[in-house]
Formats: sequence, C-alpha cells, structure tokens
Amino acid sequence: MLIRIPKGWEIPEREATPESVYFNRRQLLQAAGLMGLINPLTATESKSPYPAKRNPEFTLDRPITEEWAATGYNNFYEFDPENKQAVKDKVGAFQISPWKVEVTGLVNKPAVFDLDDILRKFPLEERLYRFRCVERWAMAVPWTGFPLSRLIQAVDPKPEAKFVRFTTVSRPKEMPGMQRAAYYPWPYNEGLRMDEAMNPLTLVVTGIYGKPLPKQNGAPIRIVVPWKYGYKSAKSIVRIEFTAKMPGTFWNQMQPSEYGFYSNVNPKKPHPRWSQAYENLIPHGERRPTLMYNGYEQYVAALYNGKED
Ligand code: MTE
Repeated sequence: MLIRIPKGWEIPEREATPESVYFNRRQLLQAAGLMGLINPLTATESKSPYPAKRNPEFTLDRPITEEWAATGYNNFYEFDPENKQAVKDKVGAFQISPWKVEVTGLVNKPAVFDLDDILRKFPLEERLYRFRCVERWAMAVPWTGFPLSRLIQAVDPKPEAKFVRFTTVSRPKEMPGMQRAAYYPWPYNEGLRMDEAMNPLTLVVTGIYGKPLPKQNGAPIRIVVPWKYGYKSAKSIVRIEFTAKMPGTFWNQMQPSEYGFYSNVNPKKPHPRWSQAYENLIPHGERRPTLMYNGYEQYVAALYNGKED
C-alpha cells in the first residue's frame, strides 16, 4: 500500500526547488557577505518558496475565487464558531512562529519537524483545486504545498498503521472561539484512511495565492483533501499520528448521524440539513451541480468501489 507509483501529472523532482539549491544559495550568500560583496543587513538568508511553480496537470472548470473572498469567508471554529466573515478579524493574537509538527504513532522514524525543516525538506508546488464545504458553499483556489505521501514516506509507517490522525493546535488564550464554545470536543481533529492519505491528491498546504497561508485559512500548515467535504481538511496542525484503528473526528464525535468518517463529496447523498445536489460558488453565489467526489472521481473512485459511508 505504501509503494509510491509516480503519476504522470506530478511535477518531476528536478523542476521543484531541491534542497541542495536552497542550501547552496545560502552558502553563496554567506560567502558573498564575508567578502563584503553584499550588505549583510539587507541580504535575505534563504530564498522564499513562494510563489511555487504551478503544477499544470490541475485545471479548473470555473474561475479562481477572488482572493479577498477565500481569505475573508472562513470556517475556523477556534476563532468564531458562528460568523465566517469575522474569523479574519479574530486571529490577531494567534502565534504561528515558531511552529512544530509532531509525527508519531505507528512509524519507524517518528519526528518533530519545525516549519523551516518542512519547507526545506519537501519541495512546494502550486495546485488549483476545487474546495467544497458541506454547507454547500464552494470555491476554487491555488494552494501551495506538497503531497502528504512524501511526509508519510519520510517517517516510514509500520505495517499496522491503517489510519492517519491530524490534530489542530489548542490555544484557548489565542483562539477566542475555543473559550466561547467550550462545549465542543477540542482540539479539532480529523483523520484519513492510509490509502486516502497516500493518494497523490492529498496535500500538506502551507500557502495560498502564491503566499504563505493567512492565519484564518489554517496557518502555518494544514491538510487539503479536495474530494471530501471541507471539514476533513484540518487547519493549523501540530500532530500527525498513525493508528491501527479508525480515529474519532471532531464532527463525528459531535454529531455522528450527520458527519461520517469518509465524508466524500456526493451529490446523491443528502446531509440531513443540506441537500448536496447543488453548490454555491463564493462570493457571488452562482449555483452549480455538485460533482461526484468534487470532480476528482478519476483519481479516487478506485479507493472505495462505492463502499464509503
Ligand atoms: N480546521 C479547524 N481546526 N477548525 C475548523 O473549524 N473547519 C473546517 C476546515 N478545517 C475547521 C478546520 C471546515 S468546516 C471547512 S469548510 C474548512 O476548514 C474551511 O477552510 P477555509 O476557511 O480555508 O475555506
């Protein structure tokens, strides 16, 4: 299950910025600084990974959502569980640097990465993906990130690892929604089956619109799973754990009758409160028919054989 079969549409490693180039540039800058060629006060230490090269294999059937809309209409309950437009105004106290991600559980090489380690180790690319919330709003955005499968390979999961669990940071002092809605089962957490996590569509995301993620979109690092409802894409993650059993998830714990583990976008399966036959594109509300697996059927249908919940 863990053998990686490269797909034709993945960016070849040589086209993304490799670690050696990143470090060589740094050494060059240091040497130039010593020789007095550049002013050390103005020299940048390392090359920014943004904007990353776009992977041309991912095209859209709709325009890219305006940046102000995708970064101004957010579900991030830790900051505001009711008002999506208010989230961006409540993230000011949230500290995103330094940031560590612990990768643990049933793996041979557990690791604690800080964000810089991650940006150095895993070359970034940009992908245009559709993104669909269970509440029926939808958008199309340029995410910057890398396939989760690369990180999984780096920690070498044990054969018993069947699921991956993602946990969001828990900082009630910086996240006013956590204090206001203390009845939720914090911290926010989500999960994927191992083959879903290894699917080349599943991204670890650190940027959007060619820039680092803004806090309201899950800075500094989140998951994006484009064929599932948006709640599967956990934000601001600090822990990735490999488990033998299917992990509980935030929304499944809150309301199991409404939120299953798999939660694949499916126009034929209505949510008790929202028919899923149609979706509305933000910010103008244009109505469109929902696509099976959010339009990613060719990449993911074989994972399920029609048997997901
Ligand atoms: N992650 C955390 N930690 N907290 C949340 O409330 N909301 C989820 C998901 N990830 C959520 C989260 C839901 S319901 C959606 S639709 C997406 O984030 C929204 O992502 P966006 O704000 O970048 O569009």
